[in-house]
Amino acid sequence: MLEVRHDLARWVGRLSAAAFDARLSSKRAVDRSGVWRFRELIPPVEERFIVTRGEGATTLYPIDADSALARFAGAHHLWLKHEGENPTGSFKDRGMTSGVSTAKRLGMATVACASTGNTSASMASYAAIAGMRAIVFIPEGNIAFGKLSQALAYGARTVQIAGDFDAAMRLVEEVSVREGIYLLNSLNPFRLEGQKAIGFELLQDLDWEPPDWIVVPGGNLGNNSAIYKGFSELHCLGILKRMPRLAVIQASGANPLYRAFRAGASVVTPIEKAETIATAIKIGNPVSAAKSVRAIKETRGVVEEVTDQETMDAKAMIDAAGVGAEPASCVTIAGLKKLTAAGTIKPEERVVCILTGHVLKDPDATAKYHRSELTGFTTPHANAPVRCEATLDAVMRAIC
Ligand code: F0G
Repeated sequence: MLEVRHDLARWVGRLSAAAFDARLSSKRAVDRSGVWRFRELIPPVEERFIVTRGEGATTLYPIDADSALARFAGAHHLWLKHEGENPTGSFKDRGMTSGVSTAKRLGMATVACASTGNTSASMASYAAIAGMRAIVFIPEGNIAFGKLSQALAYGARTVQIAGDFDAAMRLVEEVSVREGIYLLNSLNPFRLEGQKAIGFELLQDLDWEPPDWIVVPGGNLGNNSAIYKGFSELHCLGILKRMPRLAVIQASGANPLYRAFRAGASVVTPIEKAETIATAIKIGNPVSAAKSVRAIKETRGVVEEVTDQETMDAKAMIDAAGVGAEPASCVTIAGLKKLTAAGTIKPEERVVCILTGHVLKDPDATAKYHRSELTGFTTPHANAPVRCEATLDAVMRAIC
């Protein structure tokens, strides 16, 4: 695995929180982007190569301590950073703007990725804007409908592999090397550079006062690794005073990092067959596992697992709070609930949960939950639609 190293010494004393804040009032595309706003810490790309859709600049929702959601999670100082508000509806746009800009700088004509859905949606869009050919490999029948439709709509060559994500990942690596195609999975270090900006921006949202904890879902494990990398750079520059702790949450059916954490192992052993309703994180052999182990260790972080039932119940709470997110994002609140119950996270600690994908990415899972059509699930928070005759009397009965 490669990693970008910045010459940070060059920036000591020359970069400050105030300088980043000053860009918030600018109308320039590179200042408005929640990634390029922090461009000194993203690999240098001349502005003419930058492919941006104004990614980032997402809302950090404060959650009232008395709200049903805060009580459910057991956290009194809770924020949700909604990365589903990115242009293609997921946090992947942050890494994709840096990845595709790098591809453009290098003069690449074709880009490719394997994906559980969001990376492919994002890559397809950014490649189309950059005028590049996009090829996406997705596990057949295992990606949410919203994401599949995006890849098709943005014009990517969409290859449905008769296998799981891990098989698609192996194949895309082989094909890219053979054909000279630029690979844009998160093993591409330039992807992780843009991804770091989630951490930068949430600090900026909090007026540079770091939270105690950042809670993220764990799938291919690029995101938590990127957030840690960005924080360690800000720490070196004296902009980040104190390192927040990371809590990575995995689905219990796709939990190789959790197993390693539990066993105290520094090597993550892949699991044979991943299974979870949160298809975005249905991954048995995460490519950024080694980087993630380091991120957990260096931030005194923790890894938790949650069942699909816990995920869908947490999702119902996040959705009903008016915020809404796709299933994979909701493992954060489900995990936080477990971690506060266990006393690992204290109720008075400041916690930011990262919601990684938009509620409309996977409408099937949501509608099935509320209609109690999910096999093997109980649906304590279901809000089922009511059928009613087209008469005033019937409507009056239905709305009472
Ligand atoms: N949440 C969502 C909505 C995702 O799409 C992903 C990953 C994750 C969480 C996990 O993040 O991989 O950095 O640990 N989706 C990838 C994809 C694998 O292909 O879209 P991670």
